Amino acid sequence: EINFFFPKQRTLAVIKPDAMEEHREKILEEIHASGFSVTQLKETVLSREMAEEFYKEHREKPFFSQLVEFMCRGLCMMLVLTKENAVEEWRAMMGPTDPDQAKTTSPNSLRARFASDILHNSVHGASNEQHAEEKIRFIFGDICSDAELTGDGQTGN
Ligand code: TYD
Repeated sequence: EINFFFPKQRTLAVIKPDAMEEHREKILEEIHASGFSVTQLKETVLSREMAEEFYKEHREKPFFSQLVEFMCRGLCMMLVLTKENAVEEWRAMMGPTDPDQAKTTSPNSLRARFASDILHNSVHGASNEQHAEEKIRFIFGDICSDAELTGDGQTGN
């Protein structure tokens, strides 16, 4: 028996402070053009504590304090993107972490076009489904259940 049902998946995307002024509209346009549904959205300035928690997996890395500093320096746009295979597809759209690498391997990616260096790299995307759900809950709270994936949950209010 062939199963024609391809379940939707959610991911957390962030437009980082370096991209908010000049590139936000273009990035949103491309998100929609690529077939993602934006099922939750908010703009916020992260507190230091929230930025530290958000990137806790990197706590021991040498770039951690710079990363936290950068992430709370201005507005971020947080989005829940819903689509089949959303985690992987959004990562592919972003491109590699380092824009210099992105320019050679994925010149059409967002980071190749909009990032200025490995720290100021325009966008974030959860690296796997478990992280996606964890970070969505962290940013949007429990109000954002995964009911939207099955189509029988009302979102947005
Ligand atoms: P990482 O999770 O490795 O990359 P990605 O964002 O592609 O999932 O790193 C998280 C962020 O930390 C990255 O977007 C930018 C910053 N960072 C640096 O500033 N320097 C580095 O050498 C690395 C690897 C990351």
